[in-house]
Amino acid sequence: MSHQFKFDVVIIGSGAAGLAAALQLPTSLDIAILAKAELEQTSSYWAQGGISAVLDPNDSVDLHVRDTIETGAGICDQQVVEFTVANSTECINWLADLGMPFTLDNPELVDSAFHLTREGGHSMRRVVHVADTTGTAMQQTLQAHVAERANIRILQDHIAIDLISKEQECVGLYAYNRGNQHVDVFRAQKVILATGGASRVYLYTSNPDGSTGDGIAMAWRAGCRVANMEFNQFHPTCLYHPEARTFLITEAVRGEGGKLLLPDGSRFMPRFDERAELAPRDIVARAIDHEMKRLGIECVYLDISHKSRAFIKSHFPAIYQRCLDFDIDITRQPIPVVPAAHYTCGGVMVDTNGRTDLKNLYAIGEVTYTGLHGANRMASNSLLECLVYARSAAAAIADEIEPGKSMPALARWDESKVTNSDEDIVVSHNWDELRRFMWDYVGIVRTNKRLERALHRSELLESEIFEYYGNYKVSADLLELRNLVVVADLIIRSALARKESRGLHFTLDYPASSDDFLSPTILDPGMSKKSPARLASI
Ligand code: FAD
Ligand code: SIN
Repeated sequence: MSHQFKFDVVIIGSGAAGLAAALQLPTSLDIAILAKAELEQTSSYWAQGGISAVLDPNDSVDLHVRDTIETGAGICDQQVVEFTVANSTECINWLADLGMPFTLDNPELVDSAFHLTREGGHSMRRVVHVADTTGTAMQQTLQAHVAERANIRILQDHIAIDLISKEQECVGLYAYNRGNQHVDVFRAQKVILATGGASRVYLYTSNPDGSTGDGIAMAWRAGCRVANMEFNQFHPTCLYHPEARTFLITEAVRGEGGKLLLPDGSRFMPRFDERAELAPRDIVARAIDHEMKRLGIECVYLDISHKSRAFIKSHFPAIYQRCLDFDIDITRQPIPVVPAAHYTCGGVMVDTNGRTDLKNLYAIGEVTYTGLHGANRMASNSLLECLVYARSAAAAIADEIEPGKSMPALARWDESKVTNSDEDIVVSHNWDELRRFMWDYVGIVRTNKRLERALHRSELLESEIFEYYGNYKVSADLLELRNLVVVADLIIRSALARKESRGLHFTLDYPASSDDFLSPTILDPGMSKKSPARLASI
């Protein structure tokens, strides 16, 4: 049966952003964390390389800011970059104080500094990590602390459907309970979207199943602006193996000397950029895509086998083991790799406290557009952004909120006009079609013609899916598909609006960058020809 819940704060999402925010909100608040599946089904849990921060005495905020802006191809918001990087050291110290077992430079020393690895775009070693499973260690550390907090209630298997707004204020949300298949109502003084990215809109991705852009679509339907959706980051090196679904080979492998090779064993990255394998991701992914198309090959190779076996096994134990499961011994053989969709640089527009356009609605983490990443996110700046914005949003909420304030009851979910679907095939077919045309037409290399084609298809799918949604009871797949088609539409429209190539957005029709496009691409639901379905406003 359906429930009506009341909390001071509801956080949608149990990744780095959501958990860190929950822990930094006052313990006097009644908080719920919703996760659409198990708590650890997050991109955060899968993070490998680490978290970038100014920790080396030879490093500085200025240097980290400079690298971020250069990697972002000139359109990062400088103030936001400075704000984020200036808070990096404190965030890492906070994690370390919670017990995060960062890899040490010299474990023999009692007061060893953290080991810093290197990744693309960084001009120096700047990335703290826990071997090659940083995200798992972080998620476990944060979860252990959340579990000790009596004021935090965890609701797994709850998929937020839509925000509820009243007179331009967010007052709660509806969420589908996968367990009993009913829709619950959540009243809240503040709602935080921490729902992660949307890379599942592409056929091949490094992301877990839940990265379907739900927060972006919900915020859009509630009237919030979104920005820079054309900047979809493709990670250059995902394991290429028929049985290996979505397994990343961390950029830190290249940071520690790994070389990219063609099937004949020759290096190709020096032909594309003087930083070679350590060029920013957009450049490396495009170079791989170019070589694969030029030579008609299915993958390229990443070789770290010149390093000692002991070094490889201690720095990359999880990758070593996972590859070995597929009979690839990375201490002796190169790893077959291909690019895959990895990170959503755009999202819901927020200020430096995570405030969105809708009063009482906050957004933090990959779901947002803060201005930090510009046209291309620098490696390991994402977890940093999650932590910094979790802190600032929690502080802003703590300043405003009144613990335990009463709130009027909200309307229950109305299922009187819908029936059970007998056509689930429509949902699975549309899922596949959407992700395939996004991969084929809105991928690493774009053209106007392909984008127009994609727009046409997304419009057809949108009307079919919205009609289906209006007639049948909700299911997990239908909810995700309804969000994915909104996100696809936002990506395609943003890509069509940017008539230049910059960072992750490369189009053969406008191969050069242009000073006419130094501002973010902002889509405003209020200005959109298609009015967003505000089904949940009362
Ligand atoms: P996530 O960690 O993705 O969490 C999203 C949460 O939202 C989940 O709990 C999900 O269940 C929930 N959710 C979503 N929709 C709904 C809904 N409708 N209802 C209820 N709950 C919902 N970045 C780095 O900085 N360093 C790295 O080393 C690094 N490595 C990476 C490796 C991989 C394989 C991947 C995929 C990403 C990596 N990234 C890395 C990127 C980084 O991990 C993510 O950007 C970051 O973890 C996002 O955190 P988040 O809290 O915003 O979202
Ligand atoms: C990686 O480890 O290569 C991923 C890092 C990131 O996405 O920032």
